[in-house]
Amino acid sequence: MRRVLEFDEIGYWSEIKLDIVRDYAAAYSTILNKKNLPHIYVDAFAGAGQHISKSTGAFVPGSPLNALNVQPPFREYHFIDLDVSRVESLQRIAGARNDVHVYEGDCNEVLIQSIFPTLHFESYRRALCLLDPYGLDLNWDVMFQAGQLGTIDMFLNFPVMDMNRNVLWRNPDKVSVEQLARMNAFWGGDWKEAAYTTERSLFGEPEKESNDAIAEAFRQRLQKIAGFKNVPEPLPMHNSKGAVVYYLFFASQVGVAEKIVQDIFAKYRNKGGI
Ligand SMILES: C[S@@+](CC[C@H](N)C(=O)[O-])C[C@H]1O[C@@H](n2cnc3c(N)ncnc32)[C@H](O)[C@@H]1O
Repeated sequence: MRRVLEFDEIGYWSEIKLDIVRDYAAAYSTILNKKNLPHIYVDAFAGAGQHISKSTGAFVPGSPLNALNVQPPFREYHFIDLDVSRVESLQRIAGARNDVHVYEGDCNEVLIQSIFPTLHFESYRRALCLLDPYGLDLNWDVMFQAGQLGTIDMFLNFPVMDMNRNVLWRNPDKVSVEQLARMNAFWGGDWKEAAYTTERSLFGEPEKESNDAIAEAFRQRLQKIAGFKNVPEPLPMHNSKGAVVYYLFFASQVGVAEKIVQDIFAKYRNKGGI
C-alpha cells in the first residue's frame, strides 16, 4: 500500500457530502446524548482526515476530523483505511486520545470482525456509520448486517459511475470477470433485472435502466432485505460536468432520523453549483 501521503483534491459535491454528514452527526449526537445512549462514530473508508479544496486550494477537514469536532462528542470514534499513509495521518490526528481507534485494513473485514459485534441491540450502543468508498469496494454483507443489527444509522456512497463505466455495458458478455465479481459483491444478489430493461436495441443489445431507477432498486433492497425501516430517496452527487458520480444514501431504523436527513438533503438538493 502507498506510503507517501497524498491528499485528495475534492470538488464542490464532495464538500457538500462532508457538510451533510457533519450536519446530521451533530443532530444525531445531540439526540442520543439526551437519551443517554452511548453512541459511536464509524468511518469505514476514512481517508487521510483532510483534503485539498479544488476551488480554493485550502485544506478542508475530511469526515473523520469533522466527526471529532461534533458537539456533544461521540463516545468512541472508529476510523478504517487500507492505505498506510492515510492510517498514519489519522493516527497523528487522533494523538493520545483513547476514544479514537484507527484500523489499517479492509473495512469489509474490520467492520464485521471487530466493530459490529459491539453493536448488538441489547448492548444499548448505537452507531453512525459512514461507508464512503471510491467505487465498488464495499460488500453487501456489511450493509446487510448493518441493517439487521438495528442499531446503526448509515450514510452510503452508491457508486453508480463505477458501475456504468465497468459493469453496466450494452454488451454484458464483454465485462471482465473481476468487474462482475465487484458488482456481485456490492449488490449481493441478482442486479441484472434492476440494471437492464426488457427492451432490446436495434442490434439486439439490452437497454440500461436509468441511474435513478437503479438507485431506487437498491433503496428497496436496503429496506426489504437489509431491514432498514427508513431509507429516503438518495441525493445524486455530481462531478464538474454535471454527471452523477454517486448517490448519497441514508438508512436508519428511526423515523425522526429520516425526517432530519430529508430536511438536510432538501437544503443541498437544489444548490446546483458544480
Ligand atoms: C472517498 S475516500 C474517503 C473520504 C472520506 N470519507 C471523507 O469524506 O473525508 C475513500 C478512502 O477509502 C480507502 N479505501 C479503499 N478501499 C478500502 C477498503 N476496502 N477498506 C478501507 N478503506 C478503503 C481509500 O484509501 C480512501 O482513503
